[in-house]
Amino acid sequence: MATSTTTILSATFFLYLLITITSCSSSSAPIYGLDSFLSHQSRVDPQATNDSFLSLSSTLKKSLSHSTPLSHNAHSLISSLLSLSVSLSLHVRFVGNSFPSDSSSLLDHYLSASQPSNHFHVITPFEFLSHHLALKHSLHLDVSHSPSLASRLSHALQSEIAKATSSLRSSLLSVPFSSIDEIIREDFEKEKPVHGVYLYFLDLGRQSKSYAYSYGTGESSPAFTRCSGSIWTGKERYIWIDLGAGPVDYGPALSGDGLLPRGEFHPLAALHGGPKSQKALLADLASLVWSAYQVLLVPSLRIPVPFENSLIVQFIHVHGSEGGKDSSGLDWKAVERTFRDEVGEGGLLFSDQSLSFKTYKVNYAECAICSFAISKSTNSYTSRFLFDNYTLIVSEYLDSKRLHQILSDSAEEFRRVAGFPEEDFGRVLPVYVFDLDYNSLLLLDRYHQSVAFKDMVIAVRTKSTQTVSDYSCNGRHVFMHTRELERPLVGSILQSMWGVSPTHLLWSHRHNTTLVDYTWSVGQTPFGPFSEISSLSFVQKDAARRNVLLTSLNYSISSAIDVLGSISAHGGERKLLKHNQQAEFVQRWNLFKYKLDKAISALSRLDFEMALYYLRTSDHDLYAIHSLVYHASQALEASLVCFKDPPFPWRSVSISAIGFFVLFYVYAKRDKLFRNKRKQF
Ligand SMILES: *[C@@H]1O[C@H](CO)[C@@H](O)[C@H](O)[C@H]1NC(C)=O
Ligand SMILES: *[C@@H]1O[C@H](CO)[C@@H](O)[C@H](O)[C@H]1NC(C)=O
Ligand SMILES: *[C@@H]1O[C@H](CO)[C@@H](O)[C@H](O)[C@H]1NC(C)=O
Ligand SMILES: *[C@@H]1O[C@H](CO)[C@@H](O)[C@H](O)[C@H]1NC(C)=O
Repeated sequence: MATSTTTILSATFFLYLLITITSCSSSSAPIYGLDSFLSHQSRVDPQATNDSFLSLSSTLKKSLSHSTPLSHNAHSLISSLLSLSVSLSLHVRFVGNSFPSDSSSLLDHYLSASQPSNHFHVITPFEFLSHHLALKHSLHLDVSHSPSLASRLSHALQSEIAKATSSLRSSLLSVPFSSIDEIIREDFEKEKPVHGVYLYFLDLGRQSKSYAYSYGTGESSPAFTRCSGSIWTGKERYIWIDLGAGPVDYGPALSGDGLLPRGEFHPLAALHGGPKSQKALLADLASLVWSAYQVLLVPSLRIPVPFENSLIVQFIHVHGSEGGKDSSGLDWKAVERTFRDEVGEGGLLFSDQSLSFKTYKVNYAECAICSFAISKSTNSYTSRFLFDNYTLIVSEYLDSKRLHQILSDSAEEFRRVAGFPEEDFGRVLPVYVFDLDYNSLLLLDRYHQSVAFKDMVIAVRTKSTQTVSDYSCNGRHVFMHTRELERPLVGSILQSMWGVSPTHLLWSHRHNTTLVDYTWSVGQTPFGPFSEISSLSFVQKDAARRNVLLTSLNYSISSAIDVLGSISAHGGERKLLKHNQQAEFVQRWNLFKYKLDKAISALSRLDFEMALYYLRTSDHDLYAIHSLVYHASQALEASLVCFKDPPFPWRSVSISAIGFFVLFYVYAKRDKLFRNKRKQF
């Protein structure tokens, strides 16, 4: 009796499958009305609190059960999930005369040859997770020439060069970047509304003197090295590179990771040196385009970042006996302002997120745990200097990992001492700043003023004001002003709170390691030793929101793959699901996939709000699929146990345990992804 029911059922399902496949063989047939239904939903319920499936009309449900042919082969469903790809537009504009008119096809040719693995990557994934996300990305290139802009720019440049006074310290004249940037920004504004990012290559002709752009006020002096460069990344989505400027160099002083090849061999100096064939020029430009794409458009995530409604930064200022009165270099308001400035439209936050800053003071002398932490993590190293003879010098530094460990272990103690409340909601990032009455230099891990961890930021300063860093630019050492903590703090908070990677770090799948490259580390970036600017460019602002979306998308994809796996483990959906359940499963699945596709296409258009909406609304469908499968597997196992009565059903028990965990995981995730109460790390 039971057997015959199953036969009938599977026969019906087979028939039904046949109908689905034959009635609609093209997988991407549009579902009329679904788009407008969902965009209506996004207006009435922008946070996707309600399950949109429940208000679908029966016609729409019907077309959902017909739209995609659901093959009984889980592999094809999995591979359709794993082939999701975000397509990003990069508009390359050639300004000037050196660029051949067939640049477009040659650039395309070089770039298509140089695209290896194109997954999004994470530099420091959480335990047991891989560095690559399930999601891919691809570059969509669009090339145009803009001759009219060239003459305006080159006039502006000439008048700046005429004004500039030459400096003894540098062979390059300093031209303020703003003289060029104003004109380019104006051009960019005219292109609005833009999708994607604009990259301007400038060739402004030979100038009377060599020049490079300065990004700050004031000249270089013995104690201040101002690094000049030939690029700029805008607050809005454009980048410009003046190929005639420089050649500049900046990088580690002697050798090491991220050494920037000096001068004219770097593609940034493509127009310098002897005459070049057009092919060679375009090969250099292609490598710049590729590098800009990787670092600025699809940067690696520093860490995965789940969505939180409320973001809280706690500054914990551990000060010495003078009460930490010297606030220069440690102006909380200035740090806060850097982020506040970016909170509006198109900034760091989604519309229903909030960001707050709180400050707490702790007196070092009255904080036993503070001095314990510092003394436990102080280490020393010796270095050899040549004075009259070789002399060994012992210097001290703080081991950031040990400090982090102690601070994590004694978070409660700290909370008591500093008197800050436990925050129940949202993502809380403690920023511990040790402001010590100590005369010699003390840095974290020998080189850093501030270090970002997944769950906290640690920074330190002493009374020592400066040191020579291991970096140089334009032939001079870069000084580190060790009491100035604002910019290092901005960079660290960006990494810990939003998972934004420093501009010089990139995960390389091919090398299976993190690569260091300082090409994009001058000008507007809050990271690295070569810039003094702490304001954010579009690169950091976009990364902040994109990182949240990529993290959530990866959870959804992983979890959908899990549920397909659990269906396979039960012998496929024909065995597992009853007829009416099969219909709901197909509808839910198609709706889920449809919403994922919409989220990806919103992400491609850099419409992050919309992408978040589609992700949230797809979560209802994912959850429904999980519970459908879970209940069906429970029912199936119950029936198996009745009929066979084996000694102990290890297999089915373990399968249902897995099923339960999957369900539990998704249920937990449902809360967590979009309103986290639990601390993530
Ligand atoms: C969600 O559904 C409930 C009950 O069906 C309704 O009262 C509420 O207004 C809906 N919320 C939104 C934002 O549409
Ligand atoms: C993303 O999903 C893939 C595929 O499910 C998984 O292998 C990877 O570990 C996930 N990564 C993160 C950071 O969640
Ligand atoms: C090295 O020079 C320092 C002074 O610069 C002197 O005090 C020390 O004795 C010298 N050491 C040796 C081994 O000559
Ligand atoms: C990448 O490197 C890690 C350790 O550094 C190693 O465990 C892992 O197997 C490597 N992965 C690949 C794909 O080579």
